[in-house]
Amino acid sequence: MPEESVRPLQRGLAVLRALAVAEQVRAGDLVRATGLARSTVDRVVATLVRLGHVREHGQELHLTPRLMELGNAYLAASGLSGEVAARTARLADELDESVSLAVPDGDGVRFVTQAARRRAMSVAFRIGDLLPAERCAPGALFAAEWDEAAWAAWRARVAADPGGRAFPALPPGPASPPPDLAERVERSRETGWALDDQLIEPGLIATAVPVRDAAGRPRYALSAVSHTSRHTARGLAELVLPRLREEAAYLESLPAAVPPYAEGELTPDQPLDTADAKAELGPGFLQSLARGLAVLRALGPARGEGLPLTAIAAATGLPRATARRCLHTLELEGYAAHDGRLYRPLPRVLELGYARLSRLGFADIAEPHLRQLAGRVHQSASVTVLDGTDILYVARAATVRVMSVSITLGTRFPAYPTAMGRVLLAGLPPQERARLLKADPPRPLTHRTVTDPAALHAVLDRAAADGRATADEELEEGLRSVAVPIKNAEGDVIAALNVAQHAGTAPLEETVRALLPALRETAAAMEADLHTAARFNGGLMPWRTYPPRSGEGARSRT
Ligand code: PHB
Repeated sequence: MPEESVRPLQRGLAVLRALAVAEQVRAGDLVRATGLARSTVDRVVATLVRLGHVREHGQELHLTPRLMELGNAYLAASGLSGEVAARTARLADELDESVSLAVPDGDGVRFVTQAARRRAMSVAFRIGDLLPAERCAPGALFAAEWDEAAWAAWRARVAADPGGRAFPALPPGPASPPPDLAERVERSRETGWALDDQLIEPGLIATAVPVRDAAGRPRYALSAVSHTSRHTARGLAELVLPRLREEAAYLESLPAAVPPYAEGELTPDQPLDTADAKAELGPGFLQSLARGLAVLRALGPARGEGLPLTAIAAATGLPRATARRCLHTLELEGYAAHDGRLYRPLPRVLELGYARLSRLGFADIAEPHLRQLAGRVHQSASVTVLDGTDILYVARAATVRVMSVSITLGTRFPAYPTAMGRVLLAGLPPQERARLLKADPPRPLTHRTVTDPAALHAVLDRAAADGRATADEELEEGLRSVAVPIKNAEGDVIAALNVAQHAGTAPLEETVRALLPALRETAAAMEADLHTAARFNGGLMPWRTYPPRSGEGARSRT
């Protein structure tokens, strides 16, 4: 008997695809895009909202960074690591050109790492973007492995869609007819590398080399990308090929399959407990959609060859038969594959919102959380980073105005008399803190500003110990602020979150008691999103300028 597929999972995946390709999507748009009934779309959306993968903003539906857990599972399983992403960023710094890694995906090329230096180009590709093989350098390397059926499928696709309209990452507008792919494949077979001389848009040029697996098949393409205003296509190749080849050799030397688990050792990273959701939403909650997505996430530890069903069932807490039906459905939809008894996720998982979400910057990720916090406490909330001896506003949700000056993104204040500055200074190594306090000696900005160095150090020590700081009319009369740190996955303080309000007549401790729980919950939710989004994108986080870790501080930022 053929295995049954899980319909709610299929419908959920269809809704996620529709959400991933369009902007400002409403439920009605999803009905049109998927052909599903409105009531089905509503249940799928309610389930995705409950799982934290979709956020409602008025009538509009937005994917949340948490959804990137699915793509992260694929990226981790494919053997990528933060280390590989950081090396790509370093190579981009060294060459002063964009550098990317891509994998074959059907007759397309999907990016799995991007370190961008975009100059005079209208396009900037992100992790998860898909290009047609005939319009990029990696395509010529990957097509060398195609069999007759793959070539036939490719010819049919190009005949039906010569401009590549089905590839949302391509810039709009008429595309020139691509040069003969078969001929480019032959040429790169001879030379061992491939060229893109303005196949995507005028000016954009790229050189790619293969990173081969143990069997000699191209597993990744490593590309350097530039512009004709800087190099000719040939000139770029001459310049970058030696370093690309060296880096490819390094990537080939990495162990392909590091079994990260011993069977039975896999613990659920997110125990699937849907009882509350089911009780709350009743039939509006599609449990089998939640289960299917949990199975997809559980494929993350499948380095190299894949994971056996028992490990997937153990990781999700699902019965084997249920996990198997989910896997079967994911295979039908092109998101997973199995070899014998081992299952692994496929690059197509990245089409489930990853490319769209990997375009979000730090502030984009922080802002929905700030809006929610400001709505909850009815005060303005902000995120700042340390820039020299100043705090710099990078994200903000304003409700009431409590400052005499208006704060906008880019506003700066000295760090020492502000709650956010104190949280940031408290997160520094001691010498760095001391250096910054000497560089900008505290001045009395109000009659309450703490200026005595010893007293200020004591304030900062307390902020470090308590994980929070206050400033009570020290920057400006009548202004009170409470702040908590935002940390990266390694636990370094990278930003500060605050709520500011009128000082009023209540004792400071009362204000702290009233605001702290909401501040802490917001910081935790923001950190969870940031860690998910930054896992394979080292350029996302505001970088610490002190003390520079290896490879940090000079990362590419877009
Ligand atoms: C890119 O990384 O953006 C890239 C790579 C290869 C190409 C074009 C663009 O041929």
